[in-house]
Amino acid sequence: MSLKRTLGTCYYPEHWPEEIWAEDAARMADLGLTWVRIGEFAWSRLEPAHGDLRLDWLERAIDTLHRAGLKVVLGTPTATPPRWMLDRHPDMLAVDADGRPRGFGSRRHYCFSHDGYRAEALRITAILAKRFGPKVEAWQTDNEYGCHDTILSYSDAARHAFRDWLAQKYQSPEALNRAWGNVFWSMDYDSFDQIDLPNLTVTEPNPAHTLDFRRFSSDQVARFNAGQVAAIRAHSTAPISHNYMGRIVEFDHFTLGRQMEIATWDSYPLGFLEDRLEEPPEVKRHYARQGDPDFQAFHHDLYRAVAAQFPSGDLPRWWVMEQQPGPVNWAPHNPAPAPGMVRLWTWEAFAHGAECVSYFRWRQAPFGQEQYHAGLLRPDSVPAPGYHEAAEVARELATAPMVEMAQAPVALVFDYASAWAWAVQPQGQGCDYFRLVFEIYRGLRKLGLSIDILPPDTARLNGYRLVLVPAVVTLSEPLKRALAMTGAQVLIGPRSNAKTAALSIPLPLPPALPGLDVTVSRVETLRPDMPLPMAGAGHVTLWREELEGGAEVLDRDADGRPVTMRAGNLTYLGGWPDPAFLRHLVIRACDAAGVATLDLPPDIRVRQAGKTRFVFNHGPGPVTFDGVTLPPAGVLRQGPA
Ligand code: GAL
Repeated sequence: MSLKRTLGTCYYPEHWPEEIWAEDAARMADLGLTWVRIGEFAWSRLEPAHGDLRLDWLERAIDTLHRAGLKVVLGTPTATPPRWMLDRHPDMLAVDADGRPRGFGSRRHYCFSHDGYRAEALRITAILAKRFGPKVEAWQTDNEYGCHDTILSYSDAARHAFRDWLAQKYQSPEALNRAWGNVFWSMDYDSFDQIDLPNLTVTEPNPAHTLDFRRFSSDQVARFNAGQVAAIRAHSTAPISHNYMGRIVEFDHFTLGRQMEIATWDSYPLGFLEDRLEEPPEVKRHYARQGDPDFQAFHHDLYRAVAAQFPSGDLPRWWVMEQQPGPVNWAPHNPAPAPGMVRLWTWEAFAHGAECVSYFRWRQAPFGQEQYHAGLLRPDSVPAPGYHEAAEVARELATAPMVEMAQAPVALVFDYASAWAWAVQPQGQGCDYFRLVFEIYRGLRKLGLSIDILPPDTARLNGYRLVLVPAVVTLSEPLKRALAMTGAQVLIGPRSNAKTAALSIPLPLPPALPGLDVTVSRVETLRPDMPLPMAGAGHVTLWREELEGGAEVLDRDADGRPVTMRAGNLTYLGGWPDPAFLRHLVIRACDAAGVATLDLPPDIRVRQAGKTRFVFNHGPGPVTFDGVTLPPAGVLRQGPA
């Protein structure tokens, strides 16, 4: 199956005089753009006072874009409630873990649990859906749920809603006490009304309490979004999307994926390298103008999986809604991309199956918080460097063959609930779920593998030859059955199936996988400066499990203690592998699975899209691979024309 690819941009008509809208629209069309996203922060201009609706300008903006032949994604403006909203709902702000309200003056200043604000959000969504539902080609709900640390709120509204959520889940305080193990430290409750949020305790709160709060908080996002989706669907048949972010794991994106036709995400490779990755300074320096070679690809694959949750027989629909076009303003350092990188990032998204790549933003804003954030145009409307690269992609798309999509040979399970469990009970500094899964993803990519990410309730593994299930703290029943039935090589662990749903240690001890005689008898975490050497290649770092049992030992550490054990196609990994040990594990698993690996130069990554192979040079210099020299930011398409 193959897809036609499109380009777009994010536009703020409310920032610019109406006289220039038509020219802007004509220039967008000229550039070869198809989509324009508008409206997501415009609430104060759509409704300057409660009930005082001013929608005509938005209608004129949409008409102007349509007249130029462009399609419109309309955002609901609920990430930026206007100042008057606070006068109506003074307690609508989220509250941080130290008990301080998160004030007005930027954005995302609301608590998902506040019913009054939720009703206002549904009201404005319904108004927009009714007026523009028949007009626009797609929708976006809100903007970047979770950005700026906005999922967990310790407000009164959250406390009350959490109590209700617990009462529904457990039915009686006794059942909750049992599940949480509240006999420990005399934490028993007699009534749900006694239960507070898990902040401001003297020392750490009960991890079961905190994990339930995490689950509750994720459910609140799903409920908030579902309300908007229903309000839109009442008036519009256009597909609905949300723009997710990089490395935000505080809510279950797969749940939202089931609600909406399109998953999108906002890709800021240089900002993310600076502020979201653990890489050492010399690596960040090496890729300062390129971005991490795997971070974007990981999220492309992740959000393709999120999109695949929407029940339809079609290909998963996912986009990059915001693509960095030049320097951003919000990371510790904000270098400009190397020439060619905006084009590379765009093609990389297409190679992973994106339907549209939309650049943020059309014109750099001379006011407000993002004055040094590049757009496709400079503040004086002259094309910025990113504009020329977008134009180049547009020209290439006009003649390039469509990009094919096919199932990858390798699957990697990703589980948001495990991210919460690790965060609640990390056991050692640096033991972070995303970090571990991402390091494994990187290890796979360095060997030239293309990867499908799968949700934790996956019931079928048909077609995959290698399946990785790292760190999934509680295995779902469907996944357990799928793992028992698959003929694929499976690499599972560390810390997989390690806890009950209430975050207790299960009996029999983990991993308790049928047919695999392995027991994790003890867990220790390691300082970053005390990696344990393996008998063969590499080390175990950070997280280490002692393994017992009759299964065959595949790898031992330098002291002869088992680190991996196997029965049939199932291999258990009892530690956090460093890159060298991981490489050894993946090569052996791929050999057993009959999956070819490649010896890629460090800056090169490939992505197989059906019969076509894309090759990307993420490094600052030219690299020769497979007899071809790729310039910096080079993109090579190999395969059927
Ligand atoms: C995104 C956001 C945009 C803009 C952009 C700047 O997180 O959705 O509105 O702020 O970052 O890079």
